[in-house]
Amino acid sequence: MSEIPTRTLSSGDELPLVGFGTWDIEGAALEDGLTAALDAGYTHVDTAEGYKNEAEIGAILDERDREEVFLTSKVLPSNLHYEDVLESLDASLGRLGTSYLDLYLIHWPNPTISLRETLAALERAHEEGLVRNVGVSNFSTYQLRFARKVADVPIAVNQVEFHPWYYREDLLEYCRDHDIVVEAAAPLARAEFFDDPPVTDIAEKHDVTPAQVALKWAVEKGVVVLPKSGTPEHVRANLALFDWDLDPEDIDRLDGIDRMDNVYMIDLDDETYGIPK
Ligand SMILES: NC(=O)c1ccc[n+]([C@@H]2O[C@H](COP(=O)([O-])OP(=O)(O)OC[C@H]3O[C@@H](n4cnc5c(N)ncnc54)[C@H](OP(=O)(O)O)[C@@H]3O)[C@@H](O)[C@H]2O)c1
Repeated sequence: MSEIPTRTLSSGDELPLVGFGTWDIEGAALEDGLTAALDAGYTHVDTAEGYKNEAEIGAILDERDREEVFLTSKVLPSNLHYEDVLESLDASLGRLGTSYLDLYLIHWPNPTISLRETLAALERAHEEGLVRNVGVSNFSTYQLRFARKVADVPIAVNQVEFHPWYYREDLLEYCRDHDIVVEAAAPLARAEFFDDPPVTDIAEKHDVTPAQVALKWAVEKGVVVLPKSGTPEHVRANLALFDWDLDPEDIDRLDGIDRMDNVYMIDLDDETYGIPK
């Protein structure tokens, strides 16, 4: 089993370039997908309190060596007051059956709650060793600039939608300049671009799949990918990125198919997120 390349976070911790995404997956699909992932050599799992699958993930990880897995969870935008962050974290740790998270993210910004307050709670959790790294998700460059200004703990990661149809070049550049690793949420755009001719041409040229082309394009840029799959064959294929290369002209071509087309938005009517009416 070959080692997965990593990005070194500002803390010095190593973040594997491929992680197993777990949004909207539970039951047999989660069990099959995550077991296949861990057996294939994945060492990075991404979840969130909002995904409501932390207990199931905890039970699967219980069979494995905790230190071998880089484990991320996220706090909901409705739980960003100081005490709420700490309560959410405590509940996530309990469900996941662990004493610490490798990374804890603010899942979405919430303009009604002071970012200073949220980051102070995350700093305390970091000081207490409950979270080894702190980050954000779905933050624009504008929001990141304020977060960096008020944070006493490094913002290690920004997890945002990122794929060839939604290439956030300016945001990526800002993150690069400030030692923030970008993680690609929905790196396969939920399979939306698999028939786009540049993607299929390049896949054919390298005898790989459209999914692998998109994932490779992102990891080539140092972006961590979090593909989700309940199909063990796909899970294994999504890790097979490191024994072949895209050509520079392939990367240029993929860079050129951006449509600024995002596949996800927060669901304003999903009560999980606590968005006011
Ligand atoms: N921070 C955030 O707000 C946020 C938002 C969205 C996502 N995320 C994170 O990013 C992860 C991934 O995003 P996502 O779950 O929305 O979608 P995604 O990974 O872009 O796409 C998942 C879809 O692609 C299919 N698929 C996966 N691998 C494939 C392969 N090799 N060949 C063909 N089809 C393949 C899956 O079907 P099969 O099951 O059949 O393989 C599934 O239908 C999430 O699970 C979550 O961890 C975070």
